[in-house]
Amino acid sequence: MPNTGKPSSCLIVIFGASGDLTKRKLIPALYDLFVAGQLPEKFALLGVARTQMADEVFRDHLYDWVKKNAHNFDDKTWQWFARLVHYHVGDPTVASSFPDLKTRMGQLALLHGTGENVLFYLSLAPQFYEPVIVHLGYHNMVTEGKAWCSINQAARPWQRIMMYKPFGHDRESAAHLNRVLGRVFEEESIYRIDHYLGKETVQNLLVFRFANAIFEPLWNRQYIDHVQVTAAETVGVERRGSYYDSPSGGALRDMIQSHLLQVMSLVAMEPPVSMRADDLRSEKAKVLQAVREIGPQDVPQMAVRGQYGPGRLGEEPVPGYRQEDGVNPQSPTDTYAALQVWIDTWRWSGVPFYLRSGKRLARNTTEIVVQFKPTPHCLFRAQVACANLQPNQIVINVQPDEGIRLRFEGKVPGLPTNSTADIRSVVMDFNYAAQFHAQPVEAYATLLLDAMRGDQTLFKHREEIDCAWRVVQPVLDTWAGTAPSDLPNYAAGSWGPAAADELLSRAGRKWHQ
Ligand code: BG6
Repeated sequence: MPNTGKPSSCLIVIFGASGDLTKRKLIPALYDLFVAGQLPEKFALLGVARTQMADEVFRDHLYDWVKKNAHNFDDKTWQWFARLVHYHVGDPTVASSFPDLKTRMGQLALLHGTGENVLFYLSLAPQFYEPVIVHLGYHNMVTEGKAWCSINQAARPWQRIMMYKPFGHDRESAAHLNRVLGRVFEEESIYRIDHYLGKETVQNLLVFRFANAIFEPLWNRQYIDHVQVTAAETVGVERRGSYYDSPSGGALRDMIQSHLLQVMSLVAMEPPVSMRADDLRSEKAKVLQAVREIGPQDVPQMAVRGQYGPGRLGEEPVPGYRQEDGVNPQSPTDTYAALQVWIDTWRWSGVPFYLRSGKRLARNTTEIVVQFKPTPHCLFRAQVACANLQPNQIVINVQPDEGIRLRFEGKVPGLPTNSTADIRSVVMDFNYAAQFHAQPVEAYATLLLDAMRGDQTLFKHREEIDCAWRVVQPVLDTWAGTAPSDLPNYAAGSWGPAAADELLSRAGRKWHQ
């Protein structure tokens, strides 16, 4: 069962601790957990990186970021928390760094009483994942076997590993990384992060579907016309131009292969037999397994790639993708991708799922739109042209303005006028902030806490990784083999390329704006 109590004592080791993620996200999230009393009784953190720094300098370097990014900062609490934070100079990609690191970890475990439990966090460029995993194994820093022979079965020591995407840059490299991990860690000790699964609204999808009786009976091909999942961003590639323009980048890999297919699998999965991680993850994997293979000949009909050119965001002129720092001026990289997906199951046969994501779009929004079919018969011919009746629609706003909106048709009050205005669409609106008066929790706090507790529910199983790559790989291969002549094909600040609208309009549908 998922463990919802305080996590057992542990040391967190962050490889790549001098990087951005540590100061922007990881440490503020851990600090918030500390304030909330959610960290283990005995806890310590060790940042590892090549930059020369003493513990004190590392803490000072983190201070401003935590002050800015944590939810409940105060200096006194920071002083307490900072005592748990340490730094070790070492190159984690080099074998010779590991004996010293092991000694330092042992010292900290004694100092803070954290025992043998360790959560390793890879906050590194993806090409460094493999050497670090191999070194951890080679230096016997992962003692799974010992765990199973432990005398105290209630407190078996554990070593877990957490990492963010990209998990490979294609299906083969992802499978390779999974094999490397599998030689050192058990699957139940591997925490592959998808920060979308840490978002409140994404988690609420399960509650919405399975803690209510009224939606699930309609959640199928009989009533649903199609589903849209959108992740639109106004930002460009910011300082990540050289990564985004590399073989690991592009919108299809960066957003659809990872986040959007996960969101889709939560929308489409069957009810799991329990909320245990294994049950839930295997239902999600089944959805991905059921996705119909996109043949190379289908790619032009089912996938759209786009790239932004110069444009405007509000009043601000912004450069095109090819003018961004670190980007090849002839780059064919997709900053926008849209995909039509068929899930070949009894529940979803014939219901298209449309996924799209892009940078430098008109608005920041992540949402799921469930579009229902029209009523089977139109009774209101006198009041309204039947074609004007809007089918029901559920919009789940993942961010910002987290909430759920249900659209239905309503009668305009007053005497009948026989005009088309007698029936109009109205909306029932549930808004997180207004309802719960609570700020959604930062995804990293949820994910770090879950990993310390040993709850894998919100992390991806190796099977899900493989299946998601299987879905996008033919599109990636086809795109790689055809030099696009039409890029850039949308202006920054617009809603993306015209071809994405055509993807839906061919079937008489349109994107929710
Ligand atoms: C990351 C992508 O995984 O998600 C980024 O690499 C993207 O390119 C980010 O901007 C979006 O996350 P969020 O939480 O802002 O929707």
